[in-house]
Amino acid sequence: MKATATAPSNIAFIKFFGKMNEELRLPVNTSISMCLSDAFTTTTVEFSPDYLSDSIEMTDGILSRAEKERIVEHLDRIRKIAKNRLFAKVVTRNSFPKSSGIASSASGFAALTLAASSALNLNLNEKELSIIARLASGSASRSIPDGFVEWKKSNTSQESYAYSLYPPDYWDIYDIVVVVEKESKPVTTTDSHKLAAGSPFYKTRIIDMDNKVKTFKHALKRKDFHLTGEIIEGEALNMHAVMLTSHPPLLYWTEKTVSLMKEVWQWRKNGTEVYFTLDAGPNLHLICEEKTVKNILSNLGKSFGQCEIIVNKPANGARLI
Ligand code: DP6
Repeated sequence: MKATATAPSNIAFIKFFGKMNEELRLPVNTSISMCLSDAFTTTTVEFSPDYLSDSIEMTDGILSRAEKERIVEHLDRIRKIAKNRLFAKVVTRNSFPKSSGIASSASGFAALTLAASSALNLNLNEKELSIIARLASGSASRSIPDGFVEWKKSNTSQESYAYSLYPPDYWDIYDIVVVVEKESKPVTTTDSHKLAAGSPFYKTRIIDMDNKVKTFKHALKRKDFHLTGEIIEGEALNMHAVMLTSHPPLLYWTEKTVSLMKEVWQWRKNGTEVYFTLDAGPNLHLICEEKTVKNILSNLGKSFGQCEIIVNKPANGARLI
């Protein structure tokens, strides 16, 4: 009873920020993301009557106790569905550094969901996998389907799942991740969701969301890169405005984050169309079209040459291997 799965991380263009139900991880708003080609997790799960407890191993790093507990909790969810009580051995590795500003919980829990459910012969469809992955980490629901993905808000668990809007080859959008800081973040993403409602700007953000999602989908449909990029960058700044004004304030940016943001604005002024986004951390994702990748990498070489850079294209979602 063994299976191996690989799943990509994803970058949210419209962010998931704030939950209407903590336990079920139901988001207050719909979010939209792209699966990343060069940031993925590969996980093998084996259930066996020979195992006397669950064991979790990360071959390229160290998992904290809390992280291991979260994985066991998810195995329990899947065992419950399969009505199986066997212990498991989990071996996992990421293709990217853990504190790179790329969501390892998204790729990690998507790969774990697919590997564990397949090892237990559950034969789940994409919607079911997305719902179960969501219960472990909201953004993991978006790492199950392919390419450009929408995760629907809903007040019921069965209706809050992600599905593919377009396959990866729909549009050559790139996500160049610039790791400006390697340190782990001071406040986890899960905790940041809880603080969101304390900001006076949170309500305004949510009221505006349905319209933003609609306009963004329209821009995506027309492959209007200018509008797509404007919304992506504005949305990231909007989320960080809420973070900055929550109690206590969450400031994930460092001097290098701000300095790269300013560079991006300057490059844009000079005619290179590139936009940034960032999650709950200091590292920036630069979003551009294929034709500008070379130019951006050369610009980055001048002032950010010492930073690790990961170039991503749109990718498929979770797969068994
Ligand atoms: C800021 O999915 O990591 O990256 O459900 O608590 O695991 P949990 O949260 P998570 O939140 C992601 C938040 C974000 C924006 C996004 O990816 O949509």
